[in-house]
Amino acid sequence: MRITSLLSILSTVALASAESIPKTDYDVIVVGGGPAGLSALSGVSRVRRTALLFDSHHYRNDVTREMHDVIGNDGTPPAEFRGLAREQISRYPTAHWSNNTVTSITPISSGDLSSFTVADNTGKNYTARKIVLGTGLRDVLPNIPGLQEAFGKGIFWCPWCDGYEHRDQSFGILGSISDVLGSVLEAHTLFSDIIAFVNGTQDAQGEAAATAQHEGWEEQLKAWNVKIDNRTIERIERLQDGATHRNRTTDTQYDKFLIHFAEGAPIERGAFITNFASVQHSTLPRQMGLNVTDNKIDVTSAMRTSESGVFAIGDANSDGSTNVPHAMFSGKRAAVYIHVEMSREESASKVSKRDELLSRRELEKEAIRAIGDNLEPQWTRARKL
Ligand SMILES: Cc1cc2nc3c(=O)[nH]c(=O)nc-3n(C[C@H](O)[C@H](O)[C@H](O)COP(=O)(O)OP(=O)(O)OC[C@H]3O[C@@H](n4cnc5c(N)ncnc54)[C@H](O)[C@@H]3O)c2cc1C
Ligand SMILES: *[C@@H]1O[C@H](CO)[C@@H](O)[C@H](O)[C@H]1NC(C)=O
Ligand SMILES: *[C@@H]1O[C@H](CO)[C@@H](O)[C@H](O)[C@H]1NC(C)=O
Ligand SMILES: *[C@@H]1O[C@H](CO)[C@@H](O)[C@H](O)[C@H]1NC(C)=O
Ligand SMILES: *[C@@H]1O[C@H](CO)[C@@H](O)[C@H](O)[C@H]1NC(C)=O
Ligand SMILES: *[C@@H]1O[C@H](CO)[C@@H](O)[C@H](O)[C@H]1NC(C)=O
Ligand SMILES: *[C@@H]1O[C@H](CO)[C@@H](O)[C@H](O)[C@H]1NC(C)=O
Repeated sequence: MRITSLLSILSTVALASAESIPKTDYDVIVVGGGPAGLSALSGVSRVRRTALLFDSHHYRNDVTREMHDVIGNDGTPPAEFRGLAREQISRYPTAHWSNNTVTSITPISSGDLSSFTVADNTGKNYTARKIVLGTGLRDVLPNIPGLQEAFGKGIFWCPWCDGYEHRDQSFGILGSISDVLGSVLEAHTLFSDIIAFVNGTQDAQGEAAATAQHEGWEEQLKAWNVKIDNRTIERIERLQDGATHRNRTTDTQYDKFLIHFAEGAPIERGAFITNFASVQHSTLPRQMGLNVTDNKIDVTSAMRTSESGVFAIGDANSDGSTNVPHAMFSGKRAAVYIHVEMSREESASKVSKRDELLSRRELEKEAIRAIGDNLEPQWTRARKL
């Protein structure tokens, strides 16, 4: 009697499971039209998943002249690169676009499988089974005259971005003393005349932070012949613009700056690298209650966040990698996992036999096995039937 009723409950649940694929406006909603979001949209569109991509047009590398170290597109302006991607992806009829800003993403509680309501700034709502956040990071620069305007144009954030175009020029490092050796280790193959402008951070606290990062940092800076200037920085003045003063044959850009201090003589430099903070561009990760560590959305190797059905890609995620190739890789990877996960859910829903009764966790594990990835020991999300 007990067993019979248990079986009947189980088969009811199995039937419920068979009916449980949520009906939504789109299979996937992607938030972000940078290289990460575009790559995710491409991946799901090519297997005819319906998808809507939101792009509010705030891109991290918008300020830079040209994008580098993206093979096949070395030196392409970022806007041109995104435009070409949009044009190519637009050929897929299941890909849809919105230039609006997403204001909230709310899980829909009915049913066993995840689905979401996405609201935009015009008050419209859309539903989807899976969410991809490619919402990026935002750089927080100190508010001194001349810095913001020059960011990405002779004052760069990574040596791979614009270092080569300024190679062998006089070079400055901006930011805390604790980050100076790190920048030197990345840039010494491009520059030999290096001054670190540490803006008063060379005190006991700053030096302790430097030692915590690199034991023996002071000796190493001496060995690389790096000078430290501890004066308070007042402003950065542009003397020459590398957008017009450049040699396209040699891939060289000749920017020139004067850095001014609260006291003493200014110093001329051809280029600077910065060590300033970056934060999540979007408030959505916090709003949604996703795990965020050190300003990065925690993800597994499959780009899954702490919320079932929500994936995070590109600069915004915790991969510890912030560049265009990573954005594209992580977007592609999320697209594959999402497609196979949805297919597994659909496959299970087509069969109503009791032994096909799979828990959500088993479904997701199946999805992972199906594409040969067993690298998810940290997988903990499970909503058992
Ligand atoms: C000055 C500078 C130069 C750089 N140069 C290079 C380089 O040469 N090579 C390189 O590989 N990398 C470079 N980078 C790094 C590169 O910019 C990033 O790695 C890359 O942009 C990350 O792509 P993403 O798609 O994650 O984010 P982003 O390109 O920043 O895109 C974020 C997207 O999310 C959208 N968005 C956010 N919130 C919402 C919302 N609520 N609703 C709708 N849309 C939303 C934005 O509008 C945007 O479309 C540079 C970075 C900087 C700062
Ligand atoms: C959305 O943005 C794209 C790319 O910037 C642009 O081509 C398109 O015209 C915009 N669409 C609308 C409806 O504004
Ligand atoms: C859109 O969704 C939000 C969040 O779920 C909800 O508060 C709002 O009422 C919805 N608006 C419409 C027009 O359905
Ligand atoms: C220099 O330090 C002052 C005081 O801490 C700070 O307000 C300013 O933003 C810093 N400037 C730069 C360029 O780091
Ligand atoms: C660097 O500047 C800070 C702030 O003005 C000061 O406290 C510190 O003593 C200076 N360090 C050196 C080595 O002069
Ligand atoms: C660019 O560099 C090449 C090689 O050094 C040189 O021959 C040429 O004159 C330079 N062009 C300009 C415009 O300076
Ligand atoms: C999210 O945070 C919780 C609580 O700290 C933790 O148990 C869980 O493993 C985290 N999940 C992910 C995917 O990081």
